[in-house]
Amino acid sequence: MRGRNIVVVGAQWGDEGKGKVVDLLTKNVGAVVRFQGGHNAGHTLVISNEKTVLHLIPSGILHDNVDCLIGNGVVLSPSAVLDEIAQLEARGVEVRERITLSPACPLVLSYHVATDIAREKARGSEKIGTTGRGIGPAYEDKVARRGVRLGDLYHGEGFATKLADAMNYHNFMLEKYYNAATVDFQQTFDETSRLAEEIEPMVGDVGSVLHDLNSRGENILFEGAQGALLDIDLGTYPFVTSSHTMAGAASVGSGFDSSRLDYVLGIVKAYSTRVGAGPFPTELFDAVGRHLADKGREFGSTTGRPRRCGWFDAAAVKRVVKMTGLSGLCMTKLDVLDGLETIRVCTKYEGSDGESASTRFGSEYYSELSPLYEDLPGWQESTAGARDLKDLPENAQAYIRRIEEWVDAPIAMISTGPDRHDTIVLTEVLGK
Ligand code: GDP
Ligand code: IMO
Ligand code: MG
Repeated sequence: MRGRNIVVVGAQWGDEGKGKVVDLLTKNVGAVVRFQGGHNAGHTLVISNEKTVLHLIPSGILHDNVDCLIGNGVVLSPSAVLDEIAQLEARGVEVRERITLSPACPLVLSYHVATDIAREKARGSEKIGTTGRGIGPAYEDKVARRGVRLGDLYHGEGFATKLADAMNYHNFMLEKYYNAATVDFQQTFDETSRLAEEIEPMVGDVGSVLHDLNSRGENILFEGAQGALLDIDLGTYPFVTSSHTMAGAASVGSGFDSSRLDYVLGIVKAYSTRVGAGPFPTELFDAVGRHLADKGREFGSTTGRPRRCGWFDAAAVKRVVKMTGLSGLCMTKLDVLDGLETIRVCTKYEGSDGESASTRFGSEYYSELSPLYEDLPGWQESTAGARDLKDLPENAQAYIRRIEEWVDAPIAMISTGPDRHDTIVLTEVLGK
């Protein structure tokens, strides 16, 4: 009998706690695979007070004997992946023997970083607030069919030709359009060729590996990056990332049969955060906003930028539940709400009929909507580290039940602290 497969995606603007949840669920799977995004992601794992931040390596890596894979939907920086492997190895975590990288991953190279930074500078006050990792330009190259892929590195002359073509384009744009410094071809070629040798033993057919593992009865976890509201089509365009962050990307981003995806777990924070620019109607600029930022330690895991904080946007999450099909939710950082007098939740928007509200949702015009709130009583007790539903104050339990109704999805798990074990499991999403 084949194994069960679960997709874990962020259901807000990223940083919902996907890394923590993936690490916890990994005890029940044989493989964890990334299927989109790149090293713009920053997924934090905390095990016995030891913190690990992963950017490209799947968040299952701290469990022995679990296969970790990077699918074709991920844009791969050769230097970033090798740096991350070296850092894990320095801590005694063995990576090379159990990681598989798809040869179809488009590469992120230095000229993508230069273009990302030049574009942001040119946008001035309209900038997206990207992570500056070259992610957008690498996806552009893929769609424009000028991308250099991991597999190209092992095809001698072909690599040199493709790299030269792509760099001619980028250097022309950098110099003539952005008035920025160009990137040296020979240096990029030599450096990438050197890294290619080290990477070669890890390259493999991700889709086939997943299919075979699953057919042998292994469960597979598909680890999303970013969040649904940053999806290139369905997020707050153009203030989005450049990949599909919805659950549907799990199949095309890894080469795995979509009819075998059994469960989609959406991760939501008990409130909202956003790093970078773009619409955020429930954003707070007052003492409560500072409470969330301080208590939640809301600084970006990749760039260290402060995250913008606000109330839970149930109207936006409800739309995500509908569009990507979330089987259940894990609500994280409930403990950050401890001590608040009143907790507000945006349940719908004012100023437009239902139809115009929904057409504005997936765009920057979302910011033109005014949120309508419902107030719920807070709780003064600590929920930090709670591992059982009955250990939560009544008002915290009521908050969870109301959110389930508003977003129209069951809450399967609740996270009450950064540690792997600070979790309340209501539904065993993968079975024991
Ligand atoms: P990801 O990108 O979705 O994996 O999330 P990040 O790792 O970027 O950000 C989540 C942050 O919240 C990390 O610092 C986690 O250690 C922390 N965290 C996760 N779950 C909880 C929780 O339930 N309570 C608290 N206080 N912190 C949490
Ligand atoms: P994880 O996986 C939060 C945001 C950036 C910016 C926009 C575009 O840790 O949840 P990009 O560099 O992707 O072109 O930037 O997307 N962004 C994230 N925000 N968490 C992330 O990843 C993010 N990855 C990108 O801040 O607003
Ligand atoms: Mg993050």
